[in-house]
Amino acid sequence: MSHSSDLIATDIEQYLRAHEKKSLLRFITCGSVDDGKSTLIGRLLFESKMLFEDQLAAIEADSKKYGTQGEALDFALLVDGLAAEREQGITIDVAYRFFSTDKRKFIVADTPGHEQYTRNMVTGASTADAAVLMVDARRGVLTQTRRHSYLVSLLGIRHIIVAINKMDLVDYSEAVFHRIVENYRAFAEQIGLKNVTFVPMSAFRGDNITAPSEHMPWHHGTTLMGYLETVEIDENRLQKQPFRLPVQWVSRPSLDFRGFAGTIAGGIVKPGDRIRVQPSGKESTVARIVTRDGDLDCAVAGQSITLTLADEIDISRGDVISAAAAPAGSADQFEATLVWMRDEPLLPGRPYLMKIGAKTVTAAVTHIKYQVNVNTLEHIAARTLELNAIGVCNLSLDRLVAFDPYAENRDTGGFILIDRLSNDTVGAGLLHFALRRSQNIHMQHVDVNRAARARLKHQRPCVLWFTGLSGAGKSTIANLVEKKLHALGRHTYLLDGDNVRHGLNKDLGFTDADRVENIRRVGEVARLMVDAGLIVITAFISPFRAERQMARALLKEGEFLEVFIDTPLDVAEQRDVKGLYKKARRGELKNFTGIDSPYEAPENPEIRIDTTRLGPDDAAEYLVLELQRRGALSA
Ligand code: ADX
Repeated sequence: MSHSSDLIATDIEQYLRAHEKKSLLRFITCGSVDDGKSTLIGRLLFESKMLFEDQLAAIEADSKKYGTQGEALDFALLVDGLAAEREQGITIDVAYRFFSTDKRKFIVADTPGHEQYTRNMVTGASTADAAVLMVDARRGVLTQTRRHSYLVSLLGIRHIIVAINKMDLVDYSEAVFHRIVENYRAFAEQIGLKNVTFVPMSAFRGDNITAPSEHMPWHHGTTLMGYLETVEIDENRLQKQPFRLPVQWVSRPSLDFRGFAGTIAGGIVKPGDRIRVQPSGKESTVARIVTRDGDLDCAVAGQSITLTLADEIDISRGDVISAAAAPAGSADQFEATLVWMRDEPLLPGRPYLMKIGAKTVTAAVTHIKYQVNVNTLEHIAARTLELNAIGVCNLSLDRLVAFDPYAENRDTGGFILIDRLSNDTVGAGLLHFALRRSQNIHMQHVDVNRAARARLKHQRPCVLWFTGLSGAGKSTIANLVEKKLHALGRHTYLLDGDNVRHGLNKDLGFTDADRVENIRRVGEVARLMVDAGLIVITAFISPFRAERQMARALLKEGEFLEVFIDTPLDVAEQRDVKGLYKKARRGELKNFTGIDSPYEAPENPEIRIDTTRLGPDDAAEYLVLELQRRGALSA
């Protein structure tokens, strides 16, 4: 049936040898099913004779039954039909498809939206050499095309092919093709995409896929397959980079063996090479390169190895072993490009998990410098990033990480952000550079420290962090607690939502983003006050678990006591001391907690006060006793 199966039948050895020598091109396709992406991939598999007879027969039958294309074969059914195959219990790799021609092997990332491949690209899970951008000839260059192009340029994919598809539906018009080419070129120049090739085609009809189309004699350029088979790939690119080994795990099968395992993310390594471990900066020499098949004299990017070193130095998972002469950087604050991938917008100040290389740390966006309008490439001011938005921002991490600018190494310079509660990937980013500020600001030693200040006050400082709905009774109870502690001669401070919003936080409203910032500041202030030796009481709705967790993380074990003032919504609404619920119900007050803004109740608060059973005075008395029981009132 095909070039490959003939050889497979007659001389399998020769087939395999020939196959092994062929170069491999990895590429991605950008575009939606509407643009004809599935049809294109199906067509490529068909034209490269990678479809098996039974699959073809199935497409033929399905095309008649479900096809949108009359009698012709509907290749989209092949790719879209995967769901059906899955239902039958056949496991297939949906992420990558493999095919080959006489000249080359190909891996195409076949992913549903841009989300998957952005994440994969950014984390180095797939390193594409080329991108096929699908444009529907009838619709021309769309915002989505520009967004994909912009991403592709950011991700450093060097070869771009713009597949102007569905030419059959515009009468194979040369004018339409040229209009789209001109339009696209202007944009490509602006974003610095250089190697762009255009192919007018019809994936469905098979025009300009492998053979030049007789319908478009005016096109003298390449066919799609012709391009894919000949585009130059620099297979040694990664090897030319400085050596990087992100440590995936530390292997310690016995007392006298300590190896550091991972996949080389750049460069070459040999025994005897001088290395530096980042972020610690410690140096040593490579002793052995261990693999399952014995020791190696040399290993290169892409290989999975275990290194042993000449010296005993502390290395843990996520560290990067790098060439001592050209080491990875080490920092905890960065400027980065961030692509937001969730419906819920980015909340600056909120702690997210950041996965960079083999390391996971906590990181928050401290400042959004600008968002990029992907149509005009203008930089626009932004306080948040919505789904699909691309922005440049500053990030602050909770500790040092090893890194490279993304432009220098995709593996050590790309990262993803993960929501801590849902574990969803919410963003993907590319590091630009470390911010100097973090390198030039050091913690100063002070002699009168928190312990000294606490001793003087005969108390153990802590925070009673009240949380609950508006009208739950937080301020009332907090006020009583402070009064009682004061009467006992304790040094306290009450930070109350309404009061703080008149001063420190008067620039903040009630959007999610502002509430995050509200609580971030209050958390920091509470920490300073604990440091000053005070018993701090905070009374804020603090509706989000993530920020309460952040405030907790600023303090030591046992210093943060979460107090859930548990008043059901209907009870709080009935009391409605400030009349705000009524306003909110009338629609005069937007983003009101419990009505049209969420409240995430604590799951494991240290203390829970059920205000339907306990009056304010009893609740306050109970809290003072709790403080006593926990030793806060005795030094
Ligand atoms: S928080 O959500 O950011 O923690 P905070 O405790 O500071 O809120 O402020 C809540 C108080 O602001 C409420 O008790 C209420 O008096 C007032 N308020 C005004 N508008 C709103 C609103 N949209 N949602 C909740 N509280 C509001």
